[in-house]
Amino acid sequence: MCGIVGYIGFRRADEVIIKALKRLEYRGYDSWGIAIKDNGGVLVHKKTGAIGKVEKFSLSNGRMAIGHTRWATHGEPNDVNAHPHTDCSEAIAVVHNGIITNFQELKEVLTAKNHVFKSETDTEVLAHLIEEFYDGDLKEAVEKALSAVKGSYAIAVIHANEDKIVVARNKSPLILGVGDDELFVASDTPAILDYTNRVIFLEDGEIAELEKEVKVFRNGKPVDKEAEIIPWSIEDAEKGGYEHFMLKEIHEIPRVIDDTLSEHMDREFDLGYDKFVFVACGTSYHAGLIAKHVIEKVAKLPVRVEIASEFNYHPPPERATYIAITQSGETADTLEAMRLAKKLGNRVVTIANVLGSTATRIADETLFTRAGPEISVAATKSFISQLIVIYVLAFKLSNRIDLLNELEKISGEVRKILDNKEDIEDVAEILSKYRNLMYVGRGIAYPTAMEGALKMKEISYIHAEAYPAGELKHGPFALLGKDMPVIACVVRDETYEIMLNNIKEIKARGSFVLAISDENDEEIEKYVDHVVKLPAVNPLLTPITQSVALQLLAYYTAKLRGCEIDKPRNLAKSVTVE
Ligand code: AGP
Repeated sequence: MCGIVGYIGFRRADEVIIKALKRLEYRGYDSWGIAIKDNGGVLVHKKTGAIGKVEKFSLSNGRMAIGHTRWATHGEPNDVNAHPHTDCSEAIAVVHNGIITNFQELKEVLTAKNHVFKSETDTEVLAHLIEEFYDGDLKEAVEKALSAVKGSYAIAVIHANEDKIVVARNKSPLILGVGDDELFVASDTPAILDYTNRVIFLEDGEIAELEKEVKVFRNGKPVDKEAEIIPWSIEDAEKGGYEHFMLKEIHEIPRVIDDTLSEHMDREFDLGYDKFVFVACGTSYHAGLIAKHVIEKVAKLPVRVEIASEFNYHPPPERATYIAITQSGETADTLEAMRLAKKLGNRVVTIANVLGSTATRIADETLFTRAGPEISVAATKSFISQLIVIYVLAFKLSNRIDLLNELEKISGEVRKILDNKEDIEDVAEILSKYRNLMYVGRGIAYPTAMEGALKMKEISYIHAEAYPAGELKHGPFALLGKDMPVIACVVRDETYEIMLNNIKEIKARGSFVLAISDENDEEIEKYVDHVVKLPAVNPLLTPITQSVALQLLAYYTAKLRGCEIDKPRNLAKSVTVE
């Protein structure tokens, strides 16, 4: 999704902005731009394509600028539609994340007042609206403009006559970085970690002026805000010798498991109701499906799992504890579901990875995952850290000390998978030649299969579907054959025998079968073409070991296919629109 950055201080602002925008590249974008205050005017530079290719960039030696990476919503990705957008006088420049829903009617009103528009974007109306209201005070003009606007926004605005950046947010993330004699604006913390880890979180409805210091206002009145220290370093947001962030992040999993365990092992969980509804999207939704399996099986408490974007259409009637799972804490669909759940009188908890993110502000309680910043679009370590919180919760709710003890050993088992990944790399060579893949599992392995398929499709662009193994005979059998390899997630629990039967049925229809099982499974190799053997762990914990293997499988397959692994086409890390 779009990324905003801004700088005011003693450094060359163009250099800070380019560096910060590069740090936000992982969010996904199609064009970028910068506006800098220079000799009493505002210089704007905008380009389609990747900022990473820009080696030397020099626009001005000005000390105040705003920048943007755009993920197109209104108007195709081109230089004109890229942000920043300016008004008629070209004294005002605006960058914006979100969607102005009433932009068309505002545009008509402004056009009737002789404003001439250059782009097809909703954002440009903001620049013209601010121009319309500007009377020597940028903050006041922005306030008036925003009162006419409907929709979601995080914005940063500069004016040629003022030495300040004005920022505001409503339903789109925005943070302010506080350095020594310098201030920053960004959509996300990694953008500013090169300079500071002191952060002020702006809330919906707040507007701020960044001048010598930060002044925050709500409804025209000053609000006191303290800067918080973010426990992330710039090394966390760098590749550290790995070819891709995704591979680095997979290798961080053992440490992330231990850190997340130490965060939660000693706490007591009192989450309110003894009924749970998980809401989430994508990979986080798959974590919710695994939670259902584990909590219902071990703690014997009822669990529903809802895709957040569908939740609004049929919220459950009974009161429950809602658990929103979200790595970024900014996924618009998940935030909307949380708001609705709260409005309906439920208790809302979030499992989130980003301190200060919107989800943590909406929730009554936050269970932090300690994954650190995740840069690759594909969720890997964050997914495993979500599972760790879920396991601790389920095992504590059921007083299963034996299972907690097993969980404490799981990082060591994951380390073994990472130390022996050559086999996975070899089998990726086979899979990379196919156009379709089917993943199957039973019981707890079904959501694992779903997550494996999602990871494969998002980074390798191979069409991959997941089915409960028992469902194949109800339709998907028609797809089996030599062009449809099947990846079978096998767990040695009550599903094992019937899963072997399903695998035999698949083999009989001519598909190549890759099984993911454990090292003690001697039976499976009789029936499949290849087995990836993982350390033997408690069946309940196999989503951890199998998911790490499936993440590596997707990674190596995508690499062999020459895909842009960390920034897959059309995707964004933080999905801040519904
Ligand atoms: C997974 O690899 C994806 N990038 C995606 O499905 C992601 O999990 C989803 O968009 C939810 O994000 P969140 O955890 O930040 O809410």
